[in-house]
Amino acid sequence: MYSKPVVKVTPPGPKARKIIEEHHRYVATTTHDPEILPLVIERGVGPWIIDVDGNVYLDFSTGVSVTNLGHVNDAVKKVLLEYLDKVWHAAGTDFYNPVQVELAKKLTSIAPGDFEKKVFFANSGTESIEAALKISRFSTGRKLFIAFISAFHGRTMGSLALTASKPVQRKNYFPWMPGVFHVPYPNPYRNPWHIDGYEHPDELVNRVIEYIDYWLLNHYVPPDEVAGIVFEPIQGEGGYVVPPKNFFRELKKLADKYGILLIDDEVQMGMGRTGRMFAIEHFNVAPDIIAMAKALGNGAAPIGATIFRKDLDFKPGAHSNTFGGHVLACAAALATINEVEKLLPHVREMEKLFREELVELKEKYSRVGDVRGLGLAWGIEFVKDPKTKEHDIETRNKVVYEALKKGLVVLPCGKSTIRLIPPLNITEEQAKTGLSIFKEVVKTVLS
Ligand SMILES: Cc1ncc(COP(=O)(O)O)c(C=O)c1O
Repeated sequence: MYSKPVVKVTPPGPKARKIIEEHHRYVATTTHDPEILPLVIERGVGPWIIDVDGNVYLDFSTGVSVTNLGHVNDAVKKVLLEYLDKVWHAAGTDFYNPVQVELAKKLTSIAPGDFEKKVFFANSGTESIEAALKISRFSTGRKLFIAFISAFHGRTMGSLALTASKPVQRKNYFPWMPGVFHVPYPNPYRNPWHIDGYEHPDELVNRVIEYIDYWLLNHYVPPDEVAGIVFEPIQGEGGYVVPPKNFFRELKKLADKYGILLIDDEVQMGMGRTGRMFAIEHFNVAPDIIAMAKALGNGAAPIGATIFRKDLDFKPGAHSNTFGGHVLACAAALATINEVEKLLPHVREMEKLFREELVELKEKYSRVGDVRGLGLAWGIEFVKDPKTKEHDIETRNKVVYEALKKGLVVLPCGKSTIRLIPPLNITEEQAKTGLSIFKEVVKTVLS
C-alpha cells in the first residue's frame, strides 16, 4: 500500500498521451476533458490510483461516487470470486436466483419508511430513474412530474426530461419525455430570490414550497395529474448543494396534500456517502420511491435498483430488462452494503475533519464563494466576486488540473464547483494528506 501520492511524470505522461489520443479517435465523445483531467488509469487499490506512466494518486473522486469502498475492495472481491465459479448470468428477470432475493430483502429492510417495499433491478442510475417514472405513472394513472432546476437524473429520454443542470445535456435532443415541470431547488447560496438560505432557511423553504403550490399547481399544472416530485436529497452534478434541514418535510406535506409521490434519487448521495445509508435519512422523510445505482456495486459490476412502496407494483410484463438482478452485480451489492453499514460512524467522524479544514478556505479566500457538504460529500464553489457570485470556471478548472499534478484526483461539478468525495474508508491520515494538497493548490491558484 502507498502512503502518499508520487507524481514522477507530469500528467499526461507519454503513455497516457498516446491512449488519450487513441481514445478520442476511436471512442465516442462523452464528458472527458483532457485539458483538466488527463488521467489514464491502469490500476486501483483502496484510495490509490496508479496511472499508465506509474504515477500514484490519492483518489478523492471515487470514480464519480462509485468506488465508495475504494478500488478492488477485498470483501467485494472475495464474494465475486466465489460467484464466478458458480454462475454469472441467471436471467434475473425471467428465472429466479437467491442472491437477487437476498439483495431485495436487504434493500427493503434498510430503506426508510415503515411500510412494505419491493425492488426493481437494472444496470445504471438512469434506468433506476426510468423505472421510478414508470412505476409512478403505472400505479397512479397520472402523467406529470415536478423536478428541480440544477438536477441531474440521467440522460435517457425520460430521465433527461428531469435533468436540468446544463443546457449541453439537452441541446439537440428535444422532444424528451413531455410532462415535466421544473422549479427552483432550495439552494442556500444561489437561488432566484437572493435569500441567504444559511441565515434564513425557513424563508427559503417557504418560497420554494409557495412556488410549487401557488405558482405551479394553482396556475397551470393540475395537481391531480401530477404523479411524482423527483428530487436529489443533495444535488450532485448540480454542485453538491445541501438544502435546508426542513425542506423535505415541507415538500412531503405538499405532496401528501395532492396525493403526489415523492421520488428520491439517491444514485449519487446514497450508499453511505453522507454518513447515512440514504441521504434522505438526514431529513426524516420516507420517500415512496428511491432510485439507487453507482456505489451500490462499488464499481465491480454495474447495478441500479428502484425501491418502492409495495402497493405501487407493476403487473407482469409491464417493465423488465435483460440484466436486472444479475448474479454478480447483486452479490457485489450485498457485500458492498454490508461493508458500508460498518463505515457509517467513520464517515460521520470524517465529516468533522472535512468541515473544519474546508470552511477555513471560505474564510480565507473571497473567491471561494461557498463550502458545503455532509459526511464525505463536499462541494467548494469558486466565484469571481463574492458579491456578484459570478462563476469562476477558469479557477475551478485550474485547481482540478493542478491538484492532479500534485497527485490528488478531484472532479468538477455544477458550474464552478469542485467535489471532494474520497472513499468512505479513507483513513484520517490519508484524508489529511488529500486535504492539505487541495488547500495548497487553492492557495497557489488564487494567489
Ligand atoms: C443523482 C443522479 N441520478 C442519476 C444519475 C445517472 O446515473 P447513470 O450515469 O448511472 O445513468 C446520476 C449520474 O451521475 C446521478 O448523479
